[in-house]
Amino acid sequence: MNDLCGPERQDIIVVGATGDLSRRKLLPALYNLYLEDALPAVGAIAGYARSDLDDEQFRALAAAAVREFSRRPLDEQAWEGFASRLTYIRAKDGFASLKHRCCEGTRLIYLAIPPSAFAATVKEIGEAGLADGSRLLVEKPFGHDLESSRRLDDVIHGVFDESQVFRIDHYLGKETVQNILVFRFGNSVFERVWNRDSIDHIQLTVAESLGIEGRGNFYEETGALRDILQSHVLQVLSLIAMEPPVAFNGQAIRDEKAQLLTSIRPVQPEDVVRGQYTAGAVDGRRVPGYREEEGVAPDSSTETFAALRLFIDNWRWAGVPFYLRTGKRMPRRTTEVAVVFREAPVMFFKETPVERLKPNMLNILIQPNEQIRFQFIAKVPGAEVEVEPVDMHFSYEESFKTQPAEAYERLLHDAMCGEPMLFLRADSVHNAWQVIEAVLDHEPPALPYEAGTWGPDAATTLIAPRLWHPR
Ligand code: BG6
Repeated sequence: MNDLCGPERQDIIVVGATGDLSRRKLLPALYNLYLEDALPAVGAIAGYARSDLDDEQFRALAAAAVREFSRRPLDEQAWEGFASRLTYIRAKDGFASLKHRCCEGTRLIYLAIPPSAFAATVKEIGEAGLADGSRLLVEKPFGHDLESSRRLDDVIHGVFDESQVFRIDHYLGKETVQNILVFRFGNSVFERVWNRDSIDHIQLTVAESLGIEGRGNFYEETGALRDILQSHVLQVLSLIAMEPPVAFNGQAIRDEKAQLLTSIRPVQPEDVVRGQYTAGAVDGRRVPGYREEEGVAPDSSTETFAALRLFIDNWRWAGVPFYLRTGKRMPRRTTEVAVVFREAPVMFFKETPVERLKPNMLNILIQPNEQIRFQFIAKVPGAEVEVEPVDMHFSYEESFKTQPAEAYERLLHDAMCGEPMLFLRADSVHNAWQVIEAVLDHEPPALPYEAGTWGPDAATTLIAPRLWHPR
C-alpha cells in the first residue's frame, strides 16, 4: 500500500480508543500503515474515550497495544514519529472540543464502541457539527435484526449521507477473501463450471478454537448467528455465488452482492441447527462450558454454533444446497469454502471402495493456511486399475513469499481514500438480516456439543447424506 490519499490533511478519530478493538486491531493497523507510509501525509490520530487519560498516557497505551498485537515489532525510532501524531480527547469534553482540534481538512471517525452506543454517538457527532467533511466507519454488528438495522440507518442518514458511511465487515479486508473474485473472474475456466450443472453443493465453515474470550456480556446478546453468520459468512457467500459484475468497481460489485443476497430464499427454522458448547478439551487443554464463562447466564440459550442449509433462487444455483456453519470451541481454527462437484456420470471403477471415489472438490482455505486446493482422482501406479484422491494446491506463502496485511490495515486505508468497494452498503446489510429473519423469530433450541468437537450431531444430520469438510 502506498499513499493514495493525496496531500490534504486528514484526521483519524477513534471513538472507543481504549477498548479491545482499538488496542488489538486499530492502533496496530494504523502503526503498520505509518510504517508503510500509507497514512495521510498530515493529520492527527485522536483517541476519544471515557477514560481520564492525557496525550502521554494514551501514547503509552498505544505503545503497549502495538508491542502486543502488531504484526511488525515496535521500532523505537519509527515509533517517535507515529506517537507524535497521537492525541487524546476525553469523552466528557465532547465532540465539540474535537472540532477545534481537528478542524482543517477531512476526518475519518471510527466507531469502535458497543453497538448499543452507535445511534447516540452519531447524533452527538451531528450536533457538534462534525459531519461535514467526515467519513464514518461503523463496526459490526449493524443492528440486532432487520428492524433495528433500519432504525440505525435512519439515525445515521439523518446526519451523514450514505456516501460518507463505511460499514465494516473485516472479512472483506482479508486478502484471501478479496482473491475469491479474482479467482472466479480472472480465470476463464472456472466460470463455465460455476453453476448447478456442475456443482453438487457448496459448504462454508468459519470455525474457531477460541471460546468467547471474556466477551460474555457482548456474546450473550449476539450469538453465533448474529456475530458471524449474518455478517462474515453471508458476505463470503455473496462473493462465492454472485453474478459477474459489469465492472471491477465498488458500485458494480456491491450491486451484484446485494442482488445475490435478495435471491437467497429466507431460511426457515428447520434449516438451522443451533448449538452451545459444554466443557471439553481443545488443543489438549481442558476448557469450561459456555454457561460457565464469565458474564454468561447459567441457563443461557445463546448459540455458540450455528449451521444453516440455504438455497439461492436464481438460474445459476436453483436446487444447489449451500451449507454454512460457524462455531466457537471447534477442534481447530479454520475458515474455508468447499465447492463439491457432481460425480462423473459413469462409474468405471465399480469395485473401488467408495471413499476412494471422492467427488472433485475445490477447497478455498481463507485462514489460517491460506491455500486453494483441488481434489481429483488419480490412478495409483501399478498393473491394477486402482484410484486414489489426490490434491493440486496453491499456497499464498509459497507463491508470494510475503505476509498479507491485516484486514484492518486494508480497510482503514481504503476508508481514508474514500474507496467503498470493501464496505457494506445499507441494502446489503438489510438483505443479510432478511435471510435469517425467520430464524431469529423462532429459534430452535441450542443443542449441547462438547468443546473440541465439530458441533452437535444434528449438524451432521442437516447435511446428510453429504459430509462436512472438515469433520
Ligand atoms: C469478529 C467476531 O467479528 O470476528 C468474533 O465478533 C470472532 O467473535 C472474530 O472471533 C473472528 O475474526 P477472525 O478474523 O479471527 O476470523
